[in-house]
Amino acid sequence: MNITIRRVGASEAAACVAGLAEVLVDCVEGGASVGFMAPLPRERALAFWQGVAAGVARGERVLLVAEDEAGAVVGTVQLITALPDNQPHRADVAKMLVHRRARRQGIAARLLAALDEAARAEGRTVLVLDTVSGGDAERLYARAGWVRVGSVPRFALMPDGTPCGTPFFYKHLAPAPRGAARLSGPAPAGGPGRRSAAPASTAGRRGRGRHRSARRRPR
Ligand SMILES: CC(C)(COP(=O)(O)OP(=O)(O)OC[C@H]1O[C@@H](n2cnc3c(N)ncnc32)[C@H](O)[C@@H]1OP(=O)(O)O)[C@@H](O)C(=O)NCCC(=O)NCCS
Repeated sequence: MNITIRRVGASEAAACVAGLAEVLVDCVEGGASVGFMAPLPRERALAFWQGVAAGVARGERVLLVAEDEAGAVVGTVQLITALPDNQPHRADVAKMLVHRRARRQGIAARLLAALDEAARAEGRTVLVLDTVSGGDAERLYARAGWVRVGSVPRFALMPDGTPCGTPFFYKHLAPAPRGAARLSGPAPAGGPGRRSAAPASTAGRRGRGRHRSARRRPR
């Protein structure tokens, strides 16, 4: 499978919603604990990604997609940059998903590498995520240099209602060199693309002031 990884621009995110919903429904159907219970109706998945697309348009998150030769979305991951004022250097990683038909080809590993690059371009050098205990994702993050800090038992439920533990991981990135080019893809209007052209320190400062509504946004 010939896969392209790209960052979705602000004006393009809405066009990816249907493909992203298909990947999310497939992952939940396959038993992944990614915030939803099974069965996940397509409408609910669409509504979730519409919320994400709106966040991308506001410059509150960075959305990466992996697409096959036909342009179909087969994988995705996000960087949430709308955080409190005292964390301008930090971002949360969310919704790392690869469609079952595209797994075990290194797509998630490539998405994570591209995410590191996007985070550096945004001036984000401390990344945090949580996942499910004992799943494929734990090995993936460990391989990609993430540090496991511990696990909270019974933090969440699997799609079938079984309680599961949630390990938390972080990764420290070296800052991007001054004037480094951004990852790829069109610049979101007024959002991260413009910030990324600036040195990391100022990029973070300009991102302040957006956090008040961040906790109500989809993860
Ligand atoms: C976790 C997940 C994102 C991994 O996606 P993926 O694209 O299959 O990941 P990779 O291909 O990079 O790595 C998966 C495995 O395939 C192996 N692999 C990678 N390329 C390969 C290749 N060309 N041939 C054979 N194996 C390969 C990797 O070494 C890895 O091995 P492991 O099972 O020992 O860990 C995917 O399983 C998924 O979407 N799961 C459901 C959602 C989920 O749990 N997301 C995480 C939420 S935090």
